[in-house]
Amino acid sequence: MKTPNKNNSPKKIKSLNILYDRLNKIIKNKKMNSFGLILFSFDLTKLNPNYSERIKLVNDIVSYLNKYLEKEDELYQLEKDKILIFTKNENLKKYTTKLYDKLEKNTFKINNENLGLNIDKSFAQWPQNGNNFEELIDFLIHNTKGSKDKNHRFEFPTYPDNVMINKKDEYIDKVEKDSTQLYLITKNDNLEIIRQKIAPEKTFQITGGNKDNFELFYILEGKIYNEKEDLTLVPGDSIAARSGKEEKYFKTLKATTLLYITSTPIFANEQKRINELLSLNRKVAEKDVETNEHCMRLQKLSSLIAEELDLEEKKIFYLGYASFLHDIGKAKIPAEILQKPSSLTDEEWKTMKKHTLWGKKIILDHFTTRNLRRVAKIIYQHHEKWDGSGYPQGLQGDEILLEAQILSVADAFDAMIYERPYQRALTKEEAIQEIKSEKGKQFSPKVVEAFSKAVKRLF
Ligand SMILES: [Fe+2]
Repeated sequence: MKTPNKNNSPKKIKSLNILYDRLNKIIKNKKMNSFGLILFSFDLTKLNPNYSERIKLVNDIVSYLNKYLEKEDELYQLEKDKILIFTKNENLKKYTTKLYDKLEKNTFKINNENLGLNIDKSFAQWPQNGNNFEELIDFLIHNTKGSKDKNHRFEFPTYPDNVMINKKDEYIDKVEKDSTQLYLITKNDNLEIIRQKIAPEKTFQITGGNKDNFELFYILEGKIYNEKEDLTLVPGDSIAARSGKEEKYFKTLKATTLLYITSTPIFANEQKRINELLSLNRKVAEKDVETNEHCMRLQKLSSLIAEELDLEEKKIFYLGYASFLHDIGKAKIPAEILQKPSSLTDEEWKTMKKHTLWGKKIILDHFTTRNLRRVAKIIYQHHEKWDGSGYPQGLQGDEILLEAQILSVADAFDAMIYERPYQRALTKEEAIQEIKSEKGKQFSPKVVEAFSKAVKRLF
């Protein structure tokens, strides 16, 4: 541990989500054998500061920590009252103790002399203390005195400074969906300012939203198109949305960046829901032969088929969702079954088939809107077959949702052209022939027709 280095630029508190991303990358690249995470939990229950006092308090803590952090160390916010420090410092224990001592001796005072700050800390070495990040975080939280007390009165503001410059690559938090990235630039209690990037050829939705909602989407770069009104929007154009039921759909004609200002703090909720779903999808990818890439290819192909069938934009949008998450129910199926190289026993097969039901349940547990109920239904039906020989309900013909009929063809095709443990990959031509031979049997005739055209646009 060196003497405090005041030349380091001050570190901002980042969200746990960013740390999670970072750890995943490190683990994937196997760049480090181990690294340290230190958790400081601030027991603030005795304090009842107003907003500006709160900012001052966090400012004090962060600037204090900054004095002792080294260049590569990072600060993260964990829950409402905990700060997590990520460090590669080999002298971690010494470093921790030193930092802890310093913090302990330093009681942060706000206006009232009697108000003090108790600091508790926990320490863990990754990956020795857990096989996955959730376990590690659990470990940290449960080893922190006072952490069971849920009665915290306030949150840390994410940005402690009063005047904050945001360089173009900086952000507080990030949410990544398959083709969209949301970067939270700044926020306060009433407003979130987000930079949103959307890939080309994607349909996205803007709705009026809940009571008191006010949103503005200002196009910074790119081009978007609204089919219904035959309207193209370019940089400088914007869309405002107030509370109400109206929905509009836009397609990006090229890669598009929006400045998104919203009075409904969507970030935290949106992030939570998406992260939960994505982490489930990741878990499926870890133990199943089907990967994230499979889900993305599926999303693309099913959208192309849907376009050939002239499905309305809204349906294409939700079919995309369903395609990406179609096998999310496999999160509940044991890896031994998913990875079994030989054929499944009757009992195992019974379990396997439940992934459609579980997928539906997972989506319904996360979302309550009507449209997402349709996504749940598509997922529930994605193994139904045109001739009634599928599962779980044995539906026949147009009893099956059109979107599920599409997803079923796209899924079968993609599965055939990529190698599986139990099956060699077919060439594209062989796979197309295979799909065509099942026309009117396993697959809907009109979907197979549309697929034949769509697949030409895919390669
Ligand atoms: Fe499936």
